[in-house]
Amino acid sequence: MTAGIAVWLAAGWIHAAPVRIELPPENPVLKPGAGSDLVRGQCLMCHSSEYFTTQPPLPRAYWKGAVEKMQGKYGAPIGAEQVEPLVDYLFRNYGAPEARK
Ligand code: HEC
Repeated sequence: MTAGIAVWLAAGWIHAAPVRIELPPENPVLKPGAGSDLVRGQCLMCHSSEYFTTQPPLPRAYWKGAVEKMQGKYGAPIGAEQVEPLVDYLFRNYGAPEARK
């Protein structure tokens, strides 16, 4: 009888143990550097940074095209003078390896 209670208590103890799960951060930190604040301000209002941080290393033309597509097709409020600084940051940090110097 007492053994039965002990088992019941032990089972309760195990269930009460806190379960820890680690979720990835919603918006992983962008690589620091010139333009990172601009990208944070202009590129994270519609989707997470994973849309561009998980792209393969792509040439500058791709990044320019992507920024212009966000601006034109998807209506991102990106000023004409912001396109080049955005492309510079994206290409330097997430572009083709030869640019990452
Ligand atoms: C106004 C909303 C909006 C903003 C701001 C925005 N995007 Fe997007 N973006 C989208 C939509 C919508 C998609 C397509 C979503 C899908 O296919 O699931 C997308 C998709 C993408 C993709 C995936 C490839 C593709 O062409 O579909 C990349 C890369 C990307 N965005 C980069 C950026 C960058 C870099 C910025 C900042 C310069 C940015 N986005 C700002 C709306 C936006």
